[in-house]
Amino acid sequence: MDIFKTPKVHWRHFFGGFSFLILILQFATGIFLIFYFDPTLNNAYKSVQDLTNKVMGGSLFRNLHRWIAFFIFMTLLLHTIRSTLRKDFMIANKKVAWLTGVLLLLPIFLLILTGIILPWEWKGYWFMEMVPNYAEAIPYAGPFLKTFLIDAFTLPRTFAVHILVLPVISLVLIDYHFLTTLRNRGIFKYIFRHTLISIPFLIILFVLATYITIPSQDPEIVPLPLDGRYTPAPEWYFLTLLLPFLYYSRGTLIPVLSIYTPLILFTAFTLLPFYLKGKQGEETEEGTAPAQDKIIKRRGIRKFVTSTAIFLVFAIFVALLYRGSYHSPTLGCNACHNLSSGRRMGVPPEAFKDRHVLPNLDKNQWMMGHWYYPNEIW
Ligand code: HEC
Repeated sequence: MDIFKTPKVHWRHFFGGFSFLILILQFATGIFLIFYFDPTLNNAYKSVQDLTNKVMGGSLFRNLHRWIAFFIFMTLLLHTIRSTLRKDFMIANKKVAWLTGVLLLLPIFLLILTGIILPWEWKGYWFMEMVPNYAEAIPYAGPFLKTFLIDAFTLPRTFAVHILVLPVISLVLIDYHFLTTLRNRGIFKYIFRHTLISIPFLIILFVLATYITIPSQDPEIVPLPLDGRYTPAPEWYFLTLLLPFLYYSRGTLIPVLSIYTPLILFTAFTLLPFYLKGKQGEETEEGTAPAQDKIIKRRGIRKFVTSTAIFLVFAIFVALLYRGSYHSPTLGCNACHNLSSGRRMGVPPEAFKDRHVLPNLDKNQWMMGHWYYPNEIW
């Protein structure tokens, strides 16, 4: 049975292939959710609750969708680290794969962002309010962008972006990234083989989606305010960018840490194949001149140093993600914001766009503090 043999190439890009697999699963669960979700302000929350509590398999599909959203960024990150350490950006005919790969991180990130808003409980509502606050920190264009985002926001629009605009952009990028190569090799065989070697990870996903679920039984069962500490959630990625808002209420450090640094790192990373272009020839020579021991040795040291440096950058990213977000109680918001505390506290307020009525929404530090320590601040 030739089909059961996994060629080496599967392991080399294991995390890339795995991301593709769970992306397909994400697509499937997403299509399921579309049939139950009602993207209107009054019904969104209720429709998600009904889906979770009344529809057979609804809870599993919803929580799978949520866990995959968290893991897909992680597996993409691992895939990126490995491609970087292997110096894929040095290989001339992989330039398109490199660029599309890095660019893919953007729509995936935005899919996570829009996906958090859609259920329209208080967590989604909080997110929707913090995105314009984040945009406001951008110099010059910030205030305009903030007003635009608040004015333009509607739940159906966010829904359209989430199920149509971003998936189409991702699909085009994925096609350029590797589907063309894959089609030549046999796409279904690839998926089948990759599923086989991914079974343990898929089992973990299903177990997590079954046992660590997002609370949705309120007002019958309400969670504790601090529920969800240490529990990874897709929110973590955006929270990491917002973290400086928690520590500094105003000042230049916020845009430096939340906008400039990530932007510069991301751009430098995207452009790697271009400013390292000169060294390409040297790389391909390797192995053709076995006598040049010394050169190879020096090259080895340089390789070691660059890979360590690149790895450190990612280690810092992951550490930041963990340090910054592990104590955010992502599952506990319903402890206070549930229907038994009254309609005002049960569903997001109707005046959510009017910051004169709800002045707290403009106070970034308060918002972040309330997210991390909801039991202390109000
Ligand atoms: C311990 C109870 C409690 C918990 C837990 C809690 N909140 Fe709150 N929250 C409050 C109170 C009280 C207010 C003030 C309400 C008001 O001003 O009418 C508030 C206000 C807010 C506001 C301000 C906007 C508004 O309309 O007043 C947002 C946004 C918010 N909470 C989101 C969250 C999120 C997200 C979580 C989970 C991470 C959370 N809350 C957890 C009690 C809580």
